Amino acid sequence: MKKFVVFNLKVYHEGRKNKELVNAAEEMEREAEKKEAEILVAPPSLDLKELASVTKNAKIIAQHADCDGTGAHTGSVPIEHLRLIGVVGTLINHSEHRIPIEKIKATIQKAKELNLISIVCVQNDAEAKEVAPFNPTAVAYEPPYLIGSKEKSVATEPEKVLASLKAVRSVNPKVRALIGAGLRKPEDFRKSAELGADGVLLASAFVEAPEPKAYIKMILDEFCR
Ligand code: G3P
Repeated sequence: MKKFVVFNLKVYHEGRKNKELVNAAEEMEREAEKKEAEILVAPPSLDLKELASVTKNAKIIAQHADCDGTGAHTGSVPIEHLRLIGVVGTLINHSEHRIPIEKIKATIQKAKELNLISIVCVQNDAEAKEVAPFNPTAVAYEPPYLIGSKEKSVATEPEKVLASLKAVRSVNPKVRALIGAGLRKPEDFRKSAELGADGVLLASAFVEAPEPKAYIKMILDEFCR
């Protein structure tokens, strides 16, 4: 099972900068492949179509998708449309875009039907246990109080990380167990690997990196030794 390195660009930047970040991911994908990892990037919704059309290597995923189908749904991001514009997956239930459990289940189901990657975010191990049986591609544990932190990362709370990984694997060993929140320094990624995470999910440290390609290389070197 390949490790996932997932960059959530949130809405920190508009088009041009997002393109630069995606280009960096694109150029580093070969390096990732050598290390048995895949790079996934979640740009803002408004940039999805353009970036998915120019990207060959890195995988473009959405930050959120709706499962209500096409039709009379104002402001919706229909999951069916993602596939049509070349997007290969979606985050679901990010802490900054929470949805009810029945919608999580339905979105995972639709993602499966459309052959899309589904990465469900959870805030604790109890939630991880709830969503793992729905069979998403991955469950990402992100303690909300560490999201955006510059001082402390999820990797500095090993008991909680291990509890989340165990919660996913005890329910459904086929699901990748990722971690995220505050991941920034080389030791955060080294520790994430030591704790046994199948992937990392990060945002602020990547969008702020002065040299995104070098930053990705650092992550691959530390997390995929
Ligand atoms: O989706 C990733 C995110 O919520 C973590 O954000 O800025 O702590 O890496 P950050």
